[in-house]
Amino acid sequence: MATFTLPKNSTIGKGQTYKAPPGARDVRTFKIYRWDPDSGENPRTDTYELDLKDTGPMVLDALIKIKNEVDSTLTFRRSCREGICGSCAMTIDGLNTLACLKPIEDVKGDVRITPLPHMPVMKDLVPDLSQIYAQLRDIEPWLKADTPPPPDEERRQSKEERAKLDGLWECILCFCCSTSCPSYWWNGDRYLGPAVLLQAYRWIADSRDEYTGARLDNLEDPFRLYRCHTIMNCTRACPKGLNPAEAIGKIKTLMVERQG
Ligand code: SF4
Ligand code: SF4
Ligand code: FES
Repeated sequence: MATFTLPKNSTIGKGQTYKAPPGARDVRTFKIYRWDPDSGENPRTDTYELDLKDTGPMVLDALIKIKNEVDSTLTFRRSCREGICGSCAMTIDGLNTLACLKPIEDVKGDVRITPLPHMPVMKDLVPDLSQIYAQLRDIEPWLKADTPPPPDEERRQSKEERAKLDGLWECILCFCCSTSCPSYWWNGDRYLGPAVLLQAYRWIADSRDEYTGARLDNLEDPFRLYRCHTIMNCTRACPKGLNPAEAIGKIKTLMVERQG
C-alpha cells in the first residue's frame, strides 16, 4: 500500500493515537483536528479508537466519551444534544452538520472531524463566532414597531401572516450554512452570509414589524446582500432542512419590487 509522507516544511503537527481498550469488539476510528493556541504548536490530527458497543449512536456521543474517558483536553461546544441549540456544529466526514444529529453509522470508514471551515479557531473544534454574531446584531433580529401593542393583548397575526414565518423561525443559528458558502469564505468581512440573511428576512416577513423599509435599506449594498451568487451550498448544508438561498432570493425580489 502507498504511504503518505509529509513534506519537510509541513506545518501539520504529528498527532497522537489512543488505542481501543483491550477486548473491544466493534472498533471505530475517529480522526479529530486538534489545536491549542497556548501550546505554541502547530495543529495536528489525533486518532481515537472507540468500541462502538460501548458508545452512544451519535458522533457527539463519541466526542463526549473521548472527553470523559480518554482525553479530557479535547474541546468542543455542545449543550442540548437534540439539534436545538446549534452549538455542536462542526465538519464531519467533509460536511458541515450537528454532531448530535449525525449517526456514527452514517459515516463510512474513519470518522474525520474538523471545526466549521473558514472561521478562526479558538481551540480544537471551537470556532470563533465573534464576527458572525456582530453581523447578526447588525440586522437587529427583534421586532421593531412604533405603534404600541393593543392594551392587554399581544400583537395579532392572521394564520396566513404567521405561515410566512415557517421555514425561518426554526433556524438555530448553527452557521453550518454560512461556513459552507464560498462567497462567505472569500468575503465574510463584508457579505452577511446565508444564516444572517435568513434571519434578516425572518423580520422583513413578519407582519407585525414596522421597519421593513429600513431593514431593506440596511441590506442594499453590493457586498452585504448581493455577494450571494445562488450557489446553493447553504441550503444543502442546513441540518434543519431550511432554505436560506430562497430567503435571500425573496429579499432580492423585494429590492426589485420597491424600485419598480
Ligand atoms: S446560495 Fe448564496 S448564500 Fe447560499 S451558498 Fe450560494 S452564495 Fe452562499
Ligand atoms: S439556516 Fe440552517 S444551517 Fe443556517 S444557521 Fe439556520 S439552522 Fe443553521
Ligand atoms: S448539542 Fe445542541 S444542536 Fe447539537
